Amino acid sequence: MEPKTVLSLKNLTKRYPGVLALDNVSLDFQEGEVHALLGENGAGKSTLIKAVAGAIPLDNGIIQVGGQDYQHMTPHQSRNMGIEVIYQEFNLVPTMSAAENIFLGDKFNDKALVDYKLMKKKAKEIFALFKVDINPNTFVRDLSPAQKQIVEIAKAVSKNVKILIMDEPSAPLSVSEVERMFDIIAQLKDKGVTIIYISHRLEEVFRISDRVSVMRDGQYVTTKITKDTNRKELISLMVGRELKETYPARANPPGDISLEVKNLTGNGDYDISFSVRKGEILGISGLVGAGRTELAMLLFGAAAIERGEIWVDGKHVKMRSPRDAIQHGIGLLTEDRKNKGLFLELGVGWNISFPIVRRLSKYGVVDTKTEKKINEQYKERINIKATSMEQRAVTLSGGNQQKVVLAKSLAAESDILIFDEPTRGIDVGAKQEIYHLMCELADNGNVILMISSDMEELIGMSDRIIVLCEGTLAGEVMKDQFSQDYILDLASGTH
Ligand SMILES: Nc1ncnc2c1ncn2[C@@H]1O[C@H](COP(=O)(O)OP(=O)(O)OP(=O)(O)O)[C@@H](O)[C@H]1O
Ligand SMILES: [Mg+2]
Repeated sequence: MEPKTVLSLKNLTKRYPGVLALDNVSLDFQEGEVHALLGENGAGKSTLIKAVAGAIPLDNGIIQVGGQDYQHMTPHQSRNMGIEVIYQEFNLVPTMSAAENIFLGDKFNDKALVDYKLMKKKAKEIFALFKVDINPNTFVRDLSPAQKQIVEIAKAVSKNVKILIMDEPSAPLSVSEVERMFDIIAQLKDKGVTIIYISHRLEEVFRISDRVSVMRDGQYVTTKITKDTNRKELISLMVGRELKETYPARANPPGDISLEVKNLTGNGDYDISFSVRKGEILGISGLVGAGRTELAMLLFGAAAIERGEIWVDGKHVKMRSPRDAIQHGIGLLTEDRKNKGLFLELGVGWNISFPIVRRLSKYGVVDTKTEKKINEQYKERINIKATSMEQRAVTLSGGNQQKVVLAKSLAAESDILIFDEPTRGIDVGAKQEIYHLMCELADNGNVILMISSDMEELIGMSDRIIVLCEGTLAGEVMKDQFSQDYILDLASGTH
């Protein structure tokens, strides 16, 4: 049987000041397929799906769906055609319940009075369908990232979705939660729903997709049947050249102990003790919610310490605020880039050099030449796709925003650097550069704490790994004992 095309994009073009985000892109999607969309940060993936959702106007091109041609798709038309999008950034209302979010703007709200009872019942039905246990009355702000993701999916499903577009849905999820999401995707696919799946994790693409399309610099490159291609080929199609994936070798062994944590206890973490040496990369593993981010916040003075001590270079230090932390040479790259990491309305350059302007100033005058040099250096090395240093951060693609936050923490060259999920949402090529930059810092004697849910990366980069489970230290793993299974065992408390 010939596959049926449900969505056809013809010559889509979208121009932003200084960049052609979509350059004459033509691409078809079939009924009941999982179609992965790949490309480097800034390749145009999110722009493409925003156009399909009617969220942005196109300069040129036609979107064919449901037997109709749309030159200017509106959000309303897109919805009516059964197209639902789960965006890179969540689109839920934090102060409303899960159920209210699912049915937001639905017939329940058409009447003067909302039938909350029916709404809750329907929400429960959808959650049951996916075998998840979420109370429909819970406020969205109190849900975990994974639960929010499921509410997003539930919202789409409740709308009788025909084409479900997911923009990096797995980024906030842990291994087991990703598996659950894959189950849900499989169920939808069985019902004939088309799924367009954007991800920077190639393993996922091979796990769930039937076909995979690659974009580069706003252009469509090619479509492959997933089982007929491989990781190496996809990477070179994305990057436009061969790329060696390796973890860089380290030049210097770790030195003296720099950071010491003794019986640290906060709101959620209990009695954690460990130490890190100068020039060491300490990996921190654990499932989502195990207390890794909490630990980072405690070390950075951003969460209240109840008990315990932090020692830096043999000195007992008080960590009452991030200011204390910075004073003691501790820097943090937060996991929550959107809220805590960027001044969205300000330019790329400003964002990168903000924390180091003080250092670059003499008698109150900033050495703009050095500042510019540093900014350019990072833009080039981790390949930040921006038209200029003045481009406002808010107009960068998701991954490029993350690169800016990362550049900012790297440029600060803190003695002790805490990276919370440094490569999340970042494309394969830039990941390699980030690994190199981190190793250079370690070789220069900086201490690096690296929190990552990407087990392969954690094992590849760390000198030693500590594992958290339910807020306590479940174990410490030396390099010669590194194995995914062992670490996962510790993390899930089954060891
Ligand atoms: N509102 C805007 N104003 C100016 N430029 C924009 C705007 N939105 C997107 N762009 C630019 O369009 C290009 C494509 O961005 P897009 O978000 O589609 O990339 P992406 O493939 O989704 O990348 P990522 O993997 O990082 O999410 C980027 O260069 C981006 O800076
Ligand atoms: Mg994107």
